Amino acid sequence: MARNLDYLNLHFNPFEPAASGVPLVDRLWVPERWKSSLQRFLDGMQRTQGAKAFAILGEYGSGKTYLLHWLEREELSKRRIRAFFFDNPGVQFYDLANALMRQLGREEFAKALWEFLDPRLADFQPALFRNSFQEWLRTVKKYRRKEDAIRELSRKIHEKEIADDEEIRYKLARLIVETYERPYFQYKDFVAGQRGALVPEKEEAPYFAAILRALRLTGGAESVAFLIDEFEEVSLQKRLTKRQTYEYMATMKRLINLTEREQFWIFVAMTPQAAEITEKLEPALWERFISHGEHRFQIPPLNKEEAKQLVIHRLDAARLEQGASQRLEQSAPRNPLFPFPEDLVESLREDIYSSPRRLVKVCSLAIARAASEEVSVPFTAKYLEEVQETLYPRPAEKDSPS
Ligand SMILES: Nc1ncnc2c1ncn2[C@@H]1O[C@H](COP(=O)(O)OP(=O)(O)OP(=O)(O)O)[C@@H](O)[C@H]1O
Ligand SMILES: [Mg+2]
Repeated sequence: MARNLDYLNLHFNPFEPAASGVPLVDRLWVPERWKSSLQRFLDGMQRTQGAKAFAILGEYGSGKTYLLHWLEREELSKRRIRAFFFDNPGVQFYDLANALMRQLGREEFAKALWEFLDPRLADFQPALFRNSFQEWLRTVKKYRRKEDAIRELSRKIHEKEIADDEEIRYKLARLIVETYERPYFQYKDFVAGQRGALVPEKEEAPYFAAILRALRLTGGAESVAFLIDEFEEVSLQKRLTKRQTYEYMATMKRLINLTEREQFWIFVAMTPQAAEITEKLEPALWERFISHGEHRFQIPPLNKEEAKQLVIHRLDAARLEQGASQRLEQSAPRNPLFPFPEDLVESLREDIYSSPRRLVKVCSLAIARAASEEVSVPFTAKYLEEVQETLYPRPAEKDSPS
């Protein structure tokens, strides 16, 4: 069992050993330099037309995933933008749509749409079907009113401005009415050429646009955003066949087009190398995506002050309740970095403190060790050096005598 962390004035280790993604805390902090570029983009975009796409670039462990989650939790909800997170989707547009539907669940989607559309069928006794979605579906089936129900839903879909096109309205309506028979949403239902396919070829984008509108309106949101992480996985050319490259570019194009026409935003995170590859594949498309460099942010290495703030914010989330920390403070003047020394950052190598992943890992191990063996606090420079070298041994000097 882990030792009590009271003597560190912590009730858990706020640095996760894997140092990937977001920690379990209720508020996420990010440096001002990261924030301002994204906030400028969001401020400007809510007023203008044009592609609402943004690329976040960063090296391994620089905080790309963390930044996307910060956007989702802190910034987009404040602006009433409904966000969906995608982790390494495939290259095809279909993959993205499929991931979206898996995330939502067909029943959840259909039910929300049904509630929003509030369909009324003539000579149906309200009590028969007004109770629940499930009951409505059962009643429609029992009295063989499927076509009536589809017609009414389709009319409402038009009235509520989700879709104009008759064909698309019909598909959406059918999707709702058939929820009971097929409870799970599968995008393969939408792919052309299959038996029972709902959407004709080349119509995925308008159909997808209708789904986006439905998501926005049912959620009472101003717009919808996709946060796509690990886009590099799909753009690493060496792994893509010619066909996949073509599909990747077609997906990008469709996404950009959608952001221009709909209340729809996309944020992608990738390594700078992946961005370069994408740019080489189709320079004009990439330029359009990042609006000639304006909608692009490369996460810079942390400076000393940012590294210090990162550690302070992490520690704050794990502090013991007021009383205990005050008792501790009486014996020692307040050091917000405690149990780390005030000159923590100065004690670490630059390649460690400037990388969020390395910094978090070093802090994590320092605290984990202090939980299992008695360590003097605040931690000494020697102790920190040991931890740092254990995790990230200093590379041997190239010209050192062998
Ligand atoms: N602003 C921040 N405040 C606190 N912790 C952060 C911050 N930014 C990143 N981290 C932490 O740093 C670690 C690495 O971040 P993250 O996983 O987001 O990097 P990444 O760029 O997505 O890495 P990869 O290239 O492997 O996907 C995670 O533990 C994350 O919680
Ligand atoms: Mg990541």
